[in-house]
Amino acid sequence: MKKIISVVGARPNFMKVAPLHRAFQKYNDSIEHLICHTGQHYDEKMSKIFFEEFELPEPHFYLGVGSGSHAVQTAKIMVEFEKVLLEEKPDLVIVVGDVNSTVACSLVASKLHTPVAHVEAGLRSYDRTMPEEINRLLTDAISDYLFVTEKSGIENLKREGVDDSKVFFVGNVMIDTLIQLLPKADDSNILKKYDTRKGDYVLVTLHRPSNVDNDAFLHKLGDLFEAISQNKKLIFPVHPRTRSNIERIGLNGHLSDNVILSDPIGYIDFLHLTKNAGLIITDSGGIQEESTYLGVQCITVRDNTERPVTVDVGTNQLIGTDLEKVTKAAMEVLSGNKKTGSIPELWDGKAAERIANIIFERM
Ligand code: UD1
Repeated sequence: MKKIISVVGARPNFMKVAPLHRAFQKYNDSIEHLICHTGQHYDEKMSKIFFEEFELPEPHFYLGVGSGSHAVQTAKIMVEFEKVLLEEKPDLVIVVGDVNSTVACSLVASKLHTPVAHVEAGLRSYDRTMPEEINRLLTDAISDYLFVTEKSGIENLKREGVDDSKVFFVGNVMIDTLIQLLPKADDSNILKKYDTRKGDYVLVTLHRPSNVDNDAFLHKLGDLFEAISQNKKLIFPVHPRTRSNIERIGLNGHLSDNVILSDPIGYIDFLHLTKNAGLIITDSGGIQEESTYLGVQCITVRDNTERPVTVDVGTNQLIGTDLEKVTKAAMEVLSGNKKTGSIPELWDGKAAERIANIIFERM
């Protein structure tokens, strides 16, 4: 019996590990698949709700590290994860995405000579001021299996000298989860709750430190909201980091009734909101991909993207962080000037099956 430990830590990890866990059940007479939650995200609405929605088992290991500076958080995860690996001696560690838990656990595993698989490898923004870019570069450099979601990833890894034999173009596990849960999402009542209808609202998510830790940006956000909310409802589920900054500068006291600032929302309701939005304005990585799959208009408030297929093939527009330009682009879309798009190659709901199969054959 081979043992695999998959790591989750932050909100965008749960929907990536869920389809892998399911895919490994097919091999459960030869592979034991265990889940380690680092506790990087710990609020009920940032973590627990997803285990229920994705029907994930309770994590087999919970490290409880919580928040901290990058060094503190990464170091705490490493210390705790090393104990798990020394005790469990797995045959493979799987890490997903680009959060601090990803790099911390891949580093621990590789130092203990435990093979590492990185799911969502090869993505590059070429912006090293982004903590996620450092996490991606380092994780890929020490991984033994690199599972790639889009073709830009193959090129990036080639440029960094990664041997072809380690790179597998398998598609997107996050889209596996989206496809699986779409029927449930279609039954959600969230639009009724917010008294709106398909196409009649703009969905906003912003949480990147480079945006929301910047007071000048937050003040201008008020103007963007004002412009949009004159003719559309605006729904903004707010990440804890963003909420504390918005409250600090007092923005929440000055918003029209058409602007809804909610707590973080579970996956199924959020997917319903994504699918039916007239427009999405975001700085998230994953939402660029989900909107592309669903053919929904998306404006990305960043200067670069590590997911270029969403711009080249999909409905995503990379507008930058100048909120006047964002407002202009949003008005264009809302006046009917929409970007057409198609679904990227292999985003077909079967990425996790491909990954499990490749791992099974090589273990
Ligand atoms: C992390 C990831 C980011 C990902 C994001 C999704 C890194 C470097 N960043 O950013 O790539 O897009 O998750 O959400 O790993 N907090 C809570 N409750 C929680 C978790 C966090 O209140 O459950 C607050 C804390 O004040 C914390 C802050 O949010 O200090 C930031 O959390 P952290 O895990 O450091 O990074 P994120 O901004 O969530």
